[in-house]
Amino acid sequence: MKSIAVSYSKAAQLGLDEQGHFQQLLHPEIERLAAARATGYTSVYASLALPEDTAMLAQILQLVEEKERLNPAMLIVIGIGGSSLGARAVHEALHGMYYNELTSGPKIYFAETVDTDAVYDILSLAEAVLEQGQQILVNVISKSGTTTETIANYELFIQLLQHYYDESWHQYVVTTTDKDSALWHLATKHSISCLPIPARVGGRYSVFCAVGLFPLAFIGVDVRSLVDGARAMVAASTNLSLSRNSAALSAATIVHQYKRGFTIHDMFVFSVELEGVGRWYRQLVGESLGKTASTGERVGITPTVSVGSTDLHSVGQLYLGGPRDKLTTFVTLDHGAPECVIPSYPEFEDLVVNIQGKSLSYIMHAIERGIRTAYEQQEIPFIACALPEKTPYYVAQLLQWKMIEIMYVGYLLKVNPFDQPHVEQYKVETRKILANE
Ligand code: PA5
Repeated sequence: MKSIAVSYSKAAQLGLDEQGHFQQLLHPEIERLAAARATGYTSVYASLALPEDTAMLAQILQLVEEKERLNPAMLIVIGIGGSSLGARAVHEALHGMYYNELTSGPKIYFAETVDTDAVYDILSLAEAVLEQGQQILVNVISKSGTTTETIANYELFIQLLQHYYDESWHQYVVTTTDKDSALWHLATKHSISCLPIPARVGGRYSVFCAVGLFPLAFIGVDVRSLVDGARAMVAASTNLSLSRNSAALSAATIVHQYKRGFTIHDMFVFSVELEGVGRWYRQLVGESLGKTASTGERVGITPTVSVGSTDLHSVGQLYLGGPRDKLTTFVTLDHGAPECVIPSYPEFEDLVVNIQGKSLSYIMHAIERGIRTAYEQQEIPFIACALPEKTPYYVAQLLQWKMIEIMYVGYLLKVNPFDQPHVEQYKVETRKILANE
């Protein structure tokens, strides 16, 4: 099986001394990650054990089968942040933006924030399905089980379910949460099916447990292949040699550039369908690294997402001509399918030459090469990642590479990449405000 290919522009490449320096710095951390693979869910690196957990996968697939027997025409995923972004990213990457219009299987909707317009629309769509005598399934996902947005949206959907199903409403819900959370206890009280999130697996590292795997399997994603891709990347990213460990090498590059003033990291995806991966990575970078280091210094890399070639027509000028503060990771696809070939209308050659008879992906590859050449000429550093195809295996490799990379970046920046104290701060303050009004 091939692997995603990662390369570095001349301006991003580490010199021999720098490589040696990072190799030495990272050595003990790589050893800890390698050791953690064997210790299951007991360490902070617990998420690395997910792709090995065949019992967990079997439990998820069994519940998928059970709920498929209810024949739902729609799956509504209720969750926010790490409880939604991963599944959404993989779904969009593999199924595209028009999945709900094109599928003959269950449609999928994500209820994330408490936006009246967005949630009302999903409730209306669900109600229309129920009115037609078809079924819906709700998957509420919250690690803590107490996130305001998630619980508010969940209550609205319970109300809808109770209206249409009376006593049997609980059959149409799957709860994914920490064992022993208040949400878990509520679910068991109402005989709602529950899938646990391993205790030490944090939200943004949880895509390869039930948080991502249940909804993805339910809409037909080959989750075995997904997990295989993740497992292969965990093995590759615990290699002690920096030059053979793509997560450690990209982490070293990111930190090296950060210290040179490249404090913004742009994930520039050349596929509209990978924008969700960019948004997922933005959360991973933002929440894992933006905090006070053990040295007392406030650190953080500002993550941005750009979509090629659309955003070349909005921020391309800034990226090429503006301040030298951005490291870029280009994500491209070697093969997309199906192919669209431009017809050869002679009169169109007066408008744009040399595109007639060529495919859209050929033109996209030309633009990708064009932008990379421009970055090279300007000596703007970039990392280039090419996916052989947009399949579960390679998309999982991409996500797993990034999760391990950020663990290494956290270590190098001397921050804890697994907590999010200031997200908790806003949650606590919101609860106080709601309690006092
Ligand atoms: O990554 C994280 O830990 C957070 O983004 C959480 O996923 C997010 O705040 C939602 O929390 P919960 O899953 O507890 O509802």
